[in-house]
Amino acid sequence: MSAAMIDGKKIAADIRLEVGSRVAERTARGLRPPGLAVVLVGENPASQFYVRSKGKACKEAGFHSEQYDRPAHTGEEELLSLVAELNANPAIDGILVQLPLPKHINEERVLLAIDPEKDVDGFHPVNVGNLSVGRKGFVPCTPLGVRELLIRSGIETRGKFAVIVGRSNIVGKPMAQLLVAKGKGGDATVCVCHSATDDLPSITRQADILVAAIGRPEIITGEMLKPGAVVIDVGINRVDDATKEKGYRVCGDVHFETASKVASHMTPVPGGVGPMTIAMLLHNTLESCRRRVDG
Ligand code: GUN
Repeated sequence: MSAAMIDGKKIAADIRLEVGSRVAERTARGLRPPGLAVVLVGENPASQFYVRSKGKACKEAGFHSEQYDRPAHTGEEELLSLVAELNANPAIDGILVQLPLPKHINEERVLLAIDPEKDVDGFHPVNVGNLSVGRKGFVPCTPLGVRELLIRSGIETRGKFAVIVGRSNIVGKPMAQLLVAKGKGGDATVCVCHSATDDLPSITRQADILVAAIGRPEIITGEMLKPGAVVIDVGINRVDDATKEKGYRVCGDVHFETASKVASHMTPVPGGVGPMTIAMLLHNTLESCRRRVDG
């Protein structure tokens, strides 16, 4: 058997076009476009790449976007006052502070300072709580993107056994909340595994749906899967590879070669979950704008 590929690139492009046409419709009615502010502190190359991609996606969808690049030595108080300014800026619906922040800055303090109503990343504890009790709020973009991939690929989650490998605040925990929530893309029975889980393969082999988000290259192999499982790979890892021009290759948390012989559906890396994160960021920012403008 060879797994069907879930085309995240195509699904993300569809969502970006849908968001773009909703924005065009609003601006044609004389409404202001959604506004996103992205804050980048320091020169982490991966973060620079992500921030550039977010800016480009905003432009294409007709958003107002502002990018704030600050040097690595920026103080915590300075960053907090920038966040306060953006909280008060009526043209801004979403504030995204790119993580990780330099070590001298208390990340939690900065995330807590973002107005929960502009927290399009869904990292503020108010939004974490909203998700856990099923209230309206913002859901982190990557797990929201995974749910959208499942829904748009026609994969039933209701009554299924979903195993999430990884317990991060950004992916694993909110993913569990989404899959266990009532309604479409939810209603699953959920198990969260992590680095201290005993006998991981005995659990992953029971999964109808497996979400790998642990940040360890190719740790999930075909023999750890149930035949016909749906496998969603959130990992993006760089591993040394002397045969490549760059000296490395990019791979997921799933061993593609063996897993694709056992799974029924799989997301590739790259081109699976990755593009969905930006698409859902646009979705969340448009939603924030609608709540603010339309009430
Ligand atoms: N760093 C890696 N992923 C993310 C994300 O989704 N949001 C933010 N703010 N930083 C990140």
